Amino acid sequence: MLDLKLEGASVVDGTGAPGSRADVGIRADVIVAVGDLSRETAGSTLRAAGRVVAPGFIDMHSHSDWRLWENRRAESKIRQGVTTEVVGNCGFSPAPASPEFLQELRGFALYVPKGMDFQWQSVGEYLKAFDAEGTAVNVVQLVGHGTLRIAAMGFARRAPDRKELGRMQRLMTDAMEDGAWGLSTGLIYAPGSYAATEEIVDLARVAGRHRGFYASHIRGEGATLLDAVREAIRVGREGDVAVQVSHIKAAGRPNWGRVADALALIDGARGEGLDVMADVYPYTASSTTLRTLLPDWALEDGVEAMLERLGKPEVRERIRRELEAPVTGQSLLDRVGWENIMIAYCARRKDAEGKRLSEVGAARGLDPLEAALELIVDEAGKGYMILFQLDETDLRRALAHPAVMIGSDGSSLAPYGALGMGKPHPRSYGTFPRVLGEYAREQRLLGLPEAVHKMTGLPARRLGLRDRGVIRAGAKADLVVFDPKRVADLATYEEPHEYPVGIEHVIVNGRIVIKDAEHTGSLPGKLLTPP
Ligand code: ZN
Ligand code: CU
Repeated sequence: MLDLKLEGASVVDGTGAPGSRADVGIRADVIVAVGDLSRETAGSTLRAAGRVVAPGFIDMHSHSDWRLWENRRAESKIRQGVTTEVVGNCGFSPAPASPEFLQELRGFALYVPKGMDFQWQSVGEYLKAFDAEGTAVNVVQLVGHGTLRIAAMGFARRAPDRKELGRMQRLMTDAMEDGAWGLSTGLIYAPGSYAATEEIVDLARVAGRHRGFYASHIRGEGATLLDAVREAIRVGREGDVAVQVSHIKAAGRPNWGRVADALALIDGARGEGLDVMADVYPYTASSTTLRTLLPDWALEDGVEAMLERLGKPEVRERIRRELEAPVTGQSLLDRVGWENIMIAYCARRKDAEGKRLSEVGAARGLDPLEAALELIVDEAGKGYMILFQLDETDLRRALAHPAVMIGSDGSSLAPYGALGMGKPHPRSYGTFPRVLGEYAREQRLLGLPEAVHKMTGLPARRLGLRDRGVIRAGAKADLVVFDPKRVADLATYEEPHEYPVGIEHVIVNGRIVIKDAEHTGSLPGKLLTPP
């Protein structure tokens, strides 16, 4: 007797193999049989003829560790078929925290949800607090290097001394022993950007020793893209650790085409025997915080210090000079014009949301840079923007590359309450259906089994997860049933808070979370512990 049976679907098992018609039988949280199960009885049965059943999708690059605190249902992710989110990316995680630098950590946090009180110090204490209420999706936690650095030395813009480095290494060791999966960096974000490569190697090595991996938002995605990829590879080589290049892209028109060169570097490293992979989201706009427009010295000593600094005319002048002057041969404005920067969130300046910085400036009689600085100050550094600065050909190249998997770079949002505010990047709602609908079915860039592999088997391989990301007897019952003819993203830059269509049922650890495209309220997700 089965608990649950999926009947008559085409099983696309996550390995990249073509689909074949079979039933899937589940008992408790495990797939116990795949094949003709017509003679098996089951507590409940989902009829799925004409549909595809795939392993639940693994979002290799997520920032949901913040949002899941108040979105336990993981709405915008689970409705895409995501059953596991890899969080703590780009150098940001809510732990570890140290009492001396708690204020700095709060300033660093871009969004502090209800319930996140920073009553923890170690990653272990944090995970325990997070896990107390359960979630719809499984969670894989990384340790953010920015967070680690703040815990040891705040926003100091210098190399750590021996004691500080030792402290970071100890915190990292504890985190790995407490269930973290690796280290992430955000090397364009202060204070991560204050670190030299040697510091990253010393910390990533700790992750590698514990069979974790190193995920990096690399030091440059524009003019310095290739050096930044080389740096990530160097960390892998010297730190003896697997490397994940996060959201691979070439930002800014003068750099379009360079994703091919970045992928060639990755191929070269793989050829040497290094374990280097990458992830990508299927959009040609990126999104980050508005304060990322500033040179990184502006954040020295933290957000409070930054706000004070921005009050000074001579500082604003220096920022203008640096933004307009070519850094490494290209100024910000060579890469992306103000008219290509859209305000995504601005809690205190709703009128700016959805508008381009050129328009925001014009409406207030300010030049766009002044308008941007004003928003940064008004939002105390927590506003977000969307930058239309990527190339479709680059994107297609990344999507098609065999070592590139799918990661949204988004969060679990929902079209209501605080979760539904602003005009966030549509990737939080549309990433996985967009790959399946637009890039696999419509554009035929990928076969469906290959697209599914990039959301299941491939990220599972990166994580070392042997019992997820695949459909076979003995694997955990994380599954998604979708209509291959209909699956599509609906979220747009103008109207981002739209769930996709065609994702019909989603099962996490054997329990149905999405049934007939509706959320059951079930929270069967687990905090996953490394193998
Ligand atoms: Zn990033
Ligand atoms: Cu990210």
